[in-house]
Amino acid sequence: LPFQSFKNVLFSADLRSANSSAAFWGDGESGGYQALLLDEDRGWLLVGGRDHIYMLHCDNLEQLAREIYWPAPKEQVEHCRQAGKNTDCANHVRLLQPFNKTHAYVCGTGAYHPVCAFVDLGHGTEEPSFQLPPHTVESGRGKCPYSPLEPFTARLSDGNLYAGTSVDFMGTNAAIFRTSVYGSSPHYIRTEAYQDHWLNEPEFVGSFPIPDTHSPDDDKIYFFFRETAVESSQWDRHVYSRVARVCKNDIGGKRSLINRWTTFLKARLVCSVPGPDGLDTHFDELEDVFVLETKDPQNPVIYGVFSTSSSVFKGSAVCVYSMASIRAAFNGPFSHKEGPDYRWVEYKGRIPYPRPGTCPSETYDPLHKSTRDFPDDVISFMRAHQLMWEPVLPINRRPVFMRVSAPYSLRKIVVDRVDAEDGQYDVLYLGTGDKILKVISIPKENWETEEVILEELTVFQKLTPILNIELSTKRQLLYVSSDLGLAKLPLHRCQLYGQACMDCCLARDPYCAWDGTTCSTYFPSNKRRARRQDVRYGDPRNQCDMEDGSKAVEERLIYGVEGNSTFLECVPRSQQTAVRWTVQHPLAHNSRDVSCCQNSA
Ligand SMILES: *[C@@H]1O[C@H](CO)[C@@H](O)[C@H](O)[C@H]1NC(C)=O
Ligand SMILES: *[C@@H]1O[C@H](CO)[C@@H](O)[C@H](O)[C@H]1NC(C)=O
Repeated sequence: LPFQSFKNVLFSADLRSANSSAAFWGDGESGGYQALLLDEDRGWLLVGGRDHIYMLHCDNLEQLAREIYWPAPKEQVEHCRQAGKNTDCANHVRLLQPFNKTHAYVCGTGAYHPVCAFVDLGHGTEEPSFQLPPHTVESGRGKCPYSPLEPFTARLSDGNLYAGTSVDFMGTNAAIFRTSVYGSSPHYIRTEAYQDHWLNEPEFVGSFPIPDTHSPDDDKIYFFFRETAVESSQWDRHVYSRVARVCKNDIGGKRSLINRWTTFLKARLVCSVPGPDGLDTHFDELEDVFVLETKDPQNPVIYGVFSTSSSVFKGSAVCVYSMASIRAAFNGPFSHKEGPDYRWVEYKGRIPYPRPGTCPSETYDPLHKSTRDFPDDVISFMRAHQLMWEPVLPINRRPVFMRVSAPYSLRKIVVDRVDAEDGQYDVLYLGTGDKILKVISIPKENWETEEVILEELTVFQKLTPILNIELSTKRQLLYVSSDLGLAKLPLHRCQLYGQACMDCCLARDPYCAWDGTTCSTYFPSNKRRARRQDVRYGDPRNQCDMEDGSKAVEERLIYGVEGNSTFLECVPRSQQTAVRWTVQHPLAHNSRDVSCCQNSA
């Protein structure tokens, strides 16, 4: 029987088998590499593991530079075991933050007794000192969770640590804290404990300082998390995603809300797609957030990865938000609980002055120089009105990338903004259970987008969830960590897209262009030579001369013999191609499709 094949491009190398990655495996006992801190200028990467902090060379992960052994005290490990926490009774390093030119701030779970300290990184770049002076170790309460697994976030800003974490052994008393990292200063501010309209079983995802105006008085910290929604229904437990914010200069109230935030507001983050029946399908559980810096420091672009785990539907999506839409929700109406059935409704009453959630300002409002000067009606309004009425909707009101009924869900995200010949593209690196997907989303007409998966990279040999990803734009690398270790991946490997203009063009990778002889890295400034690239349409006919006889559709004819077997290659070598085989009997006029199995021909 004659067989025919249709294939639009043949690639010279198989991307799946060519994952180049250098790796760091620790000492085999460490594991759980959740915390990463990259210093691009000095060329090192700090990695937090179990009882250890490592300092690695950015360019050479295999060469172990330095390590600090930082276990929990023996008595604490014993105490932790007696409490039945067997496997978690170690110091799991969960936070690494830059502090000043010579020091980083670190926190670990300390066998269910969190601790923080400074790490001395020294001055020199050649031979950095790397030590943890024992006298800098302080309590990590309100800075780091007790458990190695509890989702948490923390960010150092101007000598204060802003953290979303629990402060008890059971992990039930969770709050957003601000604590000082200078010595044992007892001053702290937090959200009210055990008040479900402040926070209700929150699981923290990220926190970022984002300036609001040119005045530093307006500087705020934004928190991203998911929590049980008080407003959804009294009977069904439903999780919503949130963005919340506090003013950096909030010092709490004077007569009431003492040591509590007086500027804490939160809004729902919506990521949904319109369903066929007019009902939206919601991806309600925020998994990760990436803040993409732009030239305007007040207006970064917010990328969120969401999942849903309803009984009928499993999937993940990426939604993008503008700061303008987030601010609009915080400037809009408040929600409140009202009426005989105690439902959450839009608050239509009088709003006190200054508007709740506004930061105090020494320069612009001499009557309200600090939050302790806020009038009583503002403070009492803030005790009950944390939730905004309007949700924050994503740009274009729909996800830019979606995976439904896939065998994996999306957990982590970093984004690189890349200049290409036909515009700017945000390349998304999405961590799944065990892979990194490299994806672009191309805007089309009618608010639609085309999702293009550029690469699918298996990072670790064993199936293991990706715990963290760091992007180095300077080195054009990704650092990816899991329980097993740390790997380094190049952002682009243009040479793998083949030896022809057409192959390079069909790849649609904004990092790569055909320079006349090879598929190589695209530099927008380099205008010397004509560069062939078409990310938007991936159409080689506009870009490449087809004189070499190559075609956008490649047809292959293979003859088979009845009763015998013939090998048909089924797996396309590029994400942008498809393979289709049809069988044609010599005496029949019509042909029929042959289904392709992954493992057999
Ligand atoms: C950085 O902070 C540490 C800890 O407070 C301090 O000992 C050190 O002197 C500081 N270094 C610089 C350069 O300010
Ligand atoms: C049968 O298939 C095998 C493997 O594909 C091939 O080597 C052999 O020549 C074929 N026999 C005939 C009679 O075509």
